[in-house]
Amino acid sequence: MRILGINCMNHDAAMAVVEFTDGKGEILWAAHSERYSKVKNDHYLNWAIVNEANTYGPFDKVVYYEKPWLKKTRQLYAGQYSTALSYTELPQWHLDHFNIKIDEYVKHHDSHAAAGYFTSPFTDATILTVDAIGEWDTVSISTADKIWIERQETIQYPHSLGILYSAFTHRCGLKPAEEEYILMGMAAYGEPKYKHDIYDDFVHQSPFKLKQNLHKGLGDWWPNAHVYDLAASIQAVTEECLADLWRRASRYGSRNLVYAGGVALNCAANRVLANMGLFDNIWIIPNPGDAGSSLGCIAAHEKKFIDWQHPFLGHNIDGEYPVDSLIKELKENKMVGVASGRAEFGPRALGNRSLLADPRGQDIKDLVNSIKKRQKFRPFAPAILEEDVNDYFELPKGVKNTPYMQYTAACTAGKDFPAIIHHDNTSRVQTVRKTDNPGFHALLTEWKRQTGCPILLNTSLNIKGQPIVNDRADGKAFTNKYGVKVLG
Ligand SMILES: [Fe+2]
Repeated sequence: MRILGINCMNHDAAMAVVEFTDGKGEILWAAHSERYSKVKNDHYLNWAIVNEANTYGPFDKVVYYEKPWLKKTRQLYAGQYSTALSYTELPQWHLDHFNIKIDEYVKHHDSHAAAGYFTSPFTDATILTVDAIGEWDTVSISTADKIWIERQETIQYPHSLGILYSAFTHRCGLKPAEEEYILMGMAAYGEPKYKHDIYDDFVHQSPFKLKQNLHKGLGDWWPNAHVYDLAASIQAVTEECLADLWRRASRYGSRNLVYAGGVALNCAANRVLANMGLFDNIWIIPNPGDAGSSLGCIAAHEKKFIDWQHPFLGHNIDGEYPVDSLIKELKENKMVGVASGRAEFGPRALGNRSLLADPRGQDIKDLVNSIKKRQKFRPFAPAILEEDVNDYFELPKGVKNTPYMQYTAACTAGKDFPAIIHHDNTSRVQTVRKTDNPGFHALLTEWKRQTGCPILLNTSLNIKGQPIVNDRADGKAFTNKYGVKVLG
């Protein structure tokens, strides 16, 4: 049984192929549309990604990640009449261009829940999904045992923690539904001065409710406020509202939490979650947002576990991981790109499509920023061998590793590595195991052996404004634009 899962007509279209044999799924391939069209956060599919998906076909079934007619009822309620009444806004209309026929539709939050649970190592779990909006649902809590998922609680539009956060993203001059991670980074520089005003004007914390519909934004709320303080305020409110949801989830009794939906990408909040100690084990799939639902809808429909090994599931660039030549470049030029093996499925570059740099010294942040051309306040992420992580970072309570950069951790050697340290002395750390990525693991091992430094700065390999490099041609374009070698 080979199944194609699709998410499109949203902010990050994606496709996934899973084969089921003997009751268990194997992910053959999963990828983001943007990496093929070169349009960041592409809403639509394109022939390049469809053609690559078809190399894993033919498919016994095609599953779609949400229910478009149900979504239209919410759009009508929200007054989005032209979208709701347009036939061209239906996914099948879009997929007709590629001769793809959808066989089954799965509810949006059921796709999120299944993406998390069926890739987790748990048999019993409580599943919490939190995002901006699906069809109507914005939060769900379910219990799961064996293959059975039972929805226990739901919060619906317009009461949405994700929409609240996106409204502040927009208020702070960033792009909503895309740049929430930048807002999270800004929060470390501000004071939560407006927290009580947010509660007064917008939010009822427990049970979570919005006092007004924020789908169209906040307008010019507190026009003279510094955006860093607004960011710190909304991050604090979000963490407090999430804490209430995490506590509610913990009352269902399982010691295992599966946490999914786009809000689960907030790694500062995830640290708070872990430190609360409500659960013994937490599983967050590395692609918990809508793109990951291309995989989740397959799992939700089949109700079968999928063997999760690692997130290197996309386009393949053949060849050995170029350890020696990468080290030579790092030593000579402090910085090098790598595009090798299969691309990451998820928003983070984890070693196969990465810009790597020597993290030591005061000038490295500016050097990498001169290439990335991003806001100066934003630090870069460190990658470190899993066995060394406790010597340099304090991982949140109960977290033994963080191979997908899902948690921030306090750095205990910050002065030696200023480029990877946030203003609040935390880092969004990636721990690297051989089983996840043998090539990247070998690179870090050899880097440490030759230099004594166990850390590499790891940031996504992309030309400013474009998606992460996917194929060899993208790697060449990066070198031509910035003069930084891309090996692989
Ligand atoms: Fe979602």
